[in-house]
Amino acid sequence: MLAGKRILLIIGGGIAAYKSLLLIRLLKAEGVHVTPVLTAGGAEFVTPLSVSALAGEKVYQALFDLTDEAEMGHIQLSRVADLIVVAPATADLLAKMAGGRAEDLASTLLLATDTRVLAAPAMNVRMWQHPATQRNLAQLRADGVLFVGPDEGDMACGEYGPGRLAEPPAILEAIRAALVRGPLVGKHVLVTSGPTHEPIDPVRYIANRSSGAQGTAVAAALRDLGAKVTFVTGPASVPPPEGVAVVRVETAAEMRAAVEAALPADVAVMAAAVADWRVANAGAQKIKKDGSGRLPVLEFAENPDILAWISKASQRPALVVGFAAETEKVVDHATAKRLRKGCDWIVANDVSPATGIMGGSENAVTVIDAEGAETWPRMAKDAVARRLAARIADAVNRVETKG
Ligand code: C5P
Repeated sequence: MLAGKRILLIIGGGIAAYKSLLLIRLLKAEGVHVTPVLTAGGAEFVTPLSVSALAGEKVYQALFDLTDEAEMGHIQLSRVADLIVVAPATADLLAKMAGGRAEDLASTLLLATDTRVLAAPAMNVRMWQHPATQRNLAQLRADGVLFVGPDEGDMACGEYGPGRLAEPPAILEAIRAALVRGPLVGKHVLVTSGPTHEPIDPVRYIANRSSGAQGTAVAAALRDLGAKVTFVTGPASVPPPEGVAVVRVETAAEMRAAVEAALPADVAVMAAAVADWRVANAGAQKIKKDGSGRLPVLEFAENPDILAWISKASQRPALVVGFAAETEKVVDHATAKRLRKGCDWIVANDVSPATGIMGGSENAVTVIDAEGAETWPRMAKDAVARRLAARIADAVNRVETKG
């Protein structure tokens, strides 16, 4: 998918610059053409020779290098790429970008281009958290710059927190997401996934066996078709996909609020296994055995039905897809559920223990819409996700053609 793409890779000055060497190797392995640009700071951490040897390309460093101007002017250099990647993007480089400065080759290229830019920030945690950096980030986001990372963790300077350069495989995924030109480019898709945890007291909760695997696969498949994905996830046992906006929640009430905050969206896929009830009399403190032999009695309150809510919301997405996990009369129950909840499609599956579907790697689903029921053969959850994403892309584009 990436083979033949051209990336202009700007390597800023920071200890994380060594990771950009790994990134070059990953990109080359995908068949990507990498043109490297090394800032003066970057050259303090990695040598031009290692950069150009790995990229198999000349490394560009100076603005007023006449040979370069004769070979390829800086304006042209900034425009031949399919994507410009800045990794590591230092606080200084971000400030220059946000301020529109053209002081050296890197900042001049970034100002002269109309190519999309993906930045992978890396800096000390205090620099990252500084209001000036956060202001610059907000400005750059508004300018359409894409970001990956930073990660949180131990830093080379001995501190802990956000500021580590995203790992090269995550940067590669973000590059892939930025470069795909699939049928869902320009569409915002909201996906809910995972179980919810409903507290009994501060240390105990009620949960269910959902792993989040199917919702995660759906989000990744939609991303691969070019959608901008907001992924609202409960405490799942599989990690969220790269290259999507992740919103982590615990309870159904939090999920409901996160879904509302993520609107407007073109499509909503509600794959979360939301708890139907929460504990109405949850303890503010840990409930103790008091030795009297009296057992605690839990009272339940009904949780908001997020799928039913979004199906009637004033900002209702054009296509709302729900899931139905059933243990008997799957199609009958799911057909009734589609009407009751007001969604467009229901993806129904049989989760009775004998199927091994809940928590397993395969799924056998029936997609129910206004036209009827379409049963798909049992296949890997990833394959179900890709087929569902393709069906969604079809439907979204059909509506548009009609409109
Ligand atoms: O009613 P049931 O839980 O079987 O419905 C399943 C569908 O409804 C799923 O798409 C699930 O994500 C959604 N749902 C929801 N909020 C709830 C319960 C279910 O969005 N409180």
